[in-house]
Amino acid sequence: MRNPPLSLYIHIPWCVQKCPYCDFNSHGLKSALPEQEYISHLLSDLEHDKTYVSNRQVTSIFIGGGTPSLFSADAIGKLLSGVKNTIAVSPTAEITLEANPGTLESARFNGYAEAGVNRISMGVQSFQNVHLTGLGRIHDAQQALNAILQAQNAPLNSFNIDLMHGLPQQSLANAMSDLTKAIDQSPAHLSWYQLTIEPNTPFYSKPPELPDDDTLWDIQAKGHALLEDAGYQQYEISGYSKPGFQCQHNLNYWRFGDYLGIGCGAHGKITDADNGRITRTVKVKHPRGYMDITRPYLDKAVAVEQDDLAFEFFMNRFRLVEPCPKSDFADFTGATLTEEQQQALHQAVEQALLQESAHQWQVTPKGRRYLNTLLSAFV
Ligand SMILES: C[S@@+](CC[C@H](N)C(=O)[O-])C[C@H]1O[C@@H](n2cnc3c(N)ncnc32)[C@H](O)[C@@H]1O
Ligand code: SF4
Repeated sequence: MRNPPLSLYIHIPWCVQKCPYCDFNSHGLKSALPEQEYISHLLSDLEHDKTYVSNRQVTSIFIGGGTPSLFSADAIGKLLSGVKNTIAVSPTAEITLEANPGTLESARFNGYAEAGVNRISMGVQSFQNVHLTGLGRIHDAQQALNAILQAQNAPLNSFNIDLMHGLPQQSLANAMSDLTKAIDQSPAHLSWYQLTIEPNTPFYSKPPELPDDDTLWDIQAKGHALLEDAGYQQYEISGYSKPGFQCQHNLNYWRFGDYLGIGCGAHGKITDADNGRITRTVKVKHPRGYMDITRPYLDKAVAVEQDDLAFEFFMNRFRLVEPCPKSDFADFTGATLTEEQQQALHQAVEQALLQESAHQWQVTPKGRRYLNTLLSAFV
């Protein structure tokens, strides 16, 4: 067993207002943003987490939310320099910040770049005002286009657009026109998510009318072809990029890499290869509890059970289009495949869900489509 690469996730839990489809740990802002206070908590949280990783180096940082672009460039600069003073960060680390086009003052991206951010992920969702209103977004299409232009002019290495499809009452033609508009902006990375109705959201209690399954299927197939024709390669279920611009941070999650998670409700996964143990951590979820100095930041730290390792490894790994080296399984889990698990993998090959060679497994497009069937053998 060996320790995989290490990433750092930083959670910012506030948004201007909550979108009705979103179940992320985010809260509409009701009072002034406690920017400085929260950053000092994040850095103390990291100070505690440091003990898990001794002198291992972080190879990517993702500042996600919520809406991290509510924070000023100065605040992000202070945060990143605090992080770099606490743990080792690779000089070539990908450092992403999630931004909402409704929260950006002019030239803020240049400030983020000066602060050390080298990749922006912009939550656009749609380029049509009718959908943006239906999704409860705080910006219109023109604001999204302005924000994209700003990001393109800033000194960044990469830039992502988050776009959703399968929106209320969306037709195939409408979804393709949205996707074409996104492609026209030429982002290096495009996350193309199908809208899902999540429990505990207003969309769940009062569901909007979504496209039927046939339309969703056509949107997927035609959209995929459109993206490929435009030079975007799919490398994960919803992840497309120009060659060489995959999100390194997300790749590390799906390759079963390690990550520290700091901030409200953030999750971490840390391997201790010397002791053959993988620990999952969760921080206190609510901002008030998290910033309560009488409580620890850590809510839970649980060792992954031996029996769960295969499922956890394949659940992440089989989302990716790239082949999986068989040696990664033992290297990153410390486990060996049981007879039953090997049998399940053979069966998946017979069902054309998976291809197998001496050294690697490769999920087929059918396997990605029926990922739950593929994984059910490991539950
Ligand atoms: C945490 S949000 C970050 C971006 C930023 N908060 C914003 O919305 O502008 C990450 C992305 O997840 C996607 N997302 C959120 N809820 C979703 C849902 N129910 N179904 C599909 N995608 C969703 C959206 O595309 C969103 O941009
Ligand atoms: S702005 Fe982003 S994180 Fe906030 S509620 Fe909307 S989708 Fe969720």
